[in-house]
Amino acid sequence: MSRPNIILTGFMGSGKTTVGKLLARQLNYLFVDTDHLIEQRCGMSVQEIFKNKGEATFRQMEAEIARELGAGEGMVIATGGRLMLDPLNAQVLGAQGSVYCLAAQPDEILQRVARSAQGQRPLLDTSNPLERIVDLIREREEGYARFTQISTSGKKPQQVMQDILAQLQPR
Ligand code: S3P
Repeated sequence: MSRPNIILTGFMGSGKTTVGKLLARQLNYLFVDTDHLIEQRCGMSVQEIFKNKGEATFRQMEAEIARELGAGEGMVIATGGRLMLDPLNAQVLGAQGSVYCLAAQPDEILQRVARSAQGQRPLLDTSNPLERIVDLIREREEGYARFTQISTSGKKPQQVMQDILAQLQPR
């Protein structure tokens, strides 16, 4: 495979979409955002899918998309925050590509999510989103730790992109 995919994982608001777009432009790769793809296919926002069809249906769609994209190349793929934590998804999507996990501090995540153009995150639709972020990160940290970590706290997206480029291994 001459242009293996680059897969970005990490918690909501860690910068996967913003950095992924920059990286794709830089490498002349196609940019794909799994949440966006699911929304296009369903004709509904992620928020509406969770509400009307349930989280399990959304996770099923993520699994289908992981399989599909894993067979391709030349893409920078920004994944929904939990997609790569499913071992089967990680296997089918990650096996042929390079996976990077973007990380940020909870308070920064909250700020980014609040001003995000990507719409509401159903999992953070609670009275104390910061507490929820901290709990979810704790629950998921072992899963995220399997991937190469890229810190994004206090960094501009351009800098994060450079950090990823510096890590890219020739395959
Ligand atoms: C989720 C993250 C979201 C989206 C959905 C669930 C999660 O994607 O897939 O709201 O479980 O972490 P982003 O990480 O792009 O916000």
